[in-house]
Amino acid sequence: MENDELFNELRSELQEKVHFLKDKPEETIDTTLRSLWLASAGIFKSAEASDGIILPQLSENQVGKLRALIVQRVKNVPLAYLTGRQRFMGVELLADKRALIPRKETEILGNKALELSREMTKIQKPALVIDTCCGAGNLGSAIAYHNPDIKVYATDLSHEAVELTKDNISFLNLSDRVEAMQGDFMSAFENDAFYEKVDLIVCNPPYITSAKVKKMDSEISSYEPELAFDGGMLGIKIIQKLISESPKFLKPSGWVVFEVGLGQGPFVIQFLQKSGNYSVIDFVNDDEGNIRTVYAQKR
Ligand SMILES: C[S@@+](CC[C@H](N)C(=O)[O-])C[C@H]1O[C@@H](n2cnc3c(N)ncnc32)[C@H](O)[C@@H]1O
Repeated sequence: MENDELFNELRSELQEKVHFLKDKPEETIDTTLRSLWLASAGIFKSAEASDGIILPQLSENQVGKLRALIVQRVKNVPLAYLTGRQRFMGVELLADKRALIPRKETEILGNKALELSREMTKIQKPALVIDTCCGAGNLGSAIAYHNPDIKVYATDLSHEAVELTKDNISFLNLSDRVEAMQGDFMSAFENDAFYEKVDLIVCNPPYITSAKVKKMDSEISSYEPELAFDGGMLGIKIIQKLISESPKFLKPSGWVVFEVGLGQGPFVIQFLQKSGNYSVIDFVNDDEGNIRTVYAQKR
């Protein structure tokens, strides 16, 4: 079968059988097919990166691999776990089932954190940054990739996530400026080297309520780690800890910046105000006007 004919046949199959998640807008029928096509030829690219790459002619063996990948995608296996890649803030990263697949919406947080880090390193460098709940290490690694004047410590409760973060640090050649350690929340930093020494804490915490975690789309619940989503009964268990414990680690005028779930923004902002530990408190909306990133400066 000619490759054009094969492309059209598989395109129709994907159109009929795959449903796409709202929080992965970069995945379309075309980017899905393109990245799986490339993977079957041994070229591993995220959906975003696959755009614009000329697709190679496939051998019979590679066509077999491609058909097998399509079968898995139709069974809801996430695309990034099939290609082993996900793009985040323009940086191509390794992705696998050890951690959550970085989402496009988290780039709102990443971009704000990068902007804050650049403001800091204009005045003093290097800036010390902590990425807690690091998952695949996407936030800390991408910020370090774009700002050479920061030192990042990334941490996660999940040993597997920390292993993937370490792989990403090596993949991006960032070993001299990004380090990953396992620990519960900020426990890896409970010492004088970090108390009141940190310029910026960035965090994309789990923030889905325990009840909603049980009802998530099967593409998420069957493949991505539950620990990445469950934020307790109200969804804000880790966010509350972040607000109350960050001042212990931040320098005076240091910043904490984090993602919140849909609808959580106003309550979280009130919580920051009531804590009395922060001077500036502000937020960033998504394109639909929802508060998705909150940031606050220590007094
Ligand atoms: C929503 S995911 C975010 C992952 C990554 N930072 C990103 O933006 O894609 C939340 C992460 O928090 C981690 N986590 C959950 N509870 C934690 C805790 N008590 N301490 C540290 N990390 C935790 C999970 O393992 C998961 O990797």
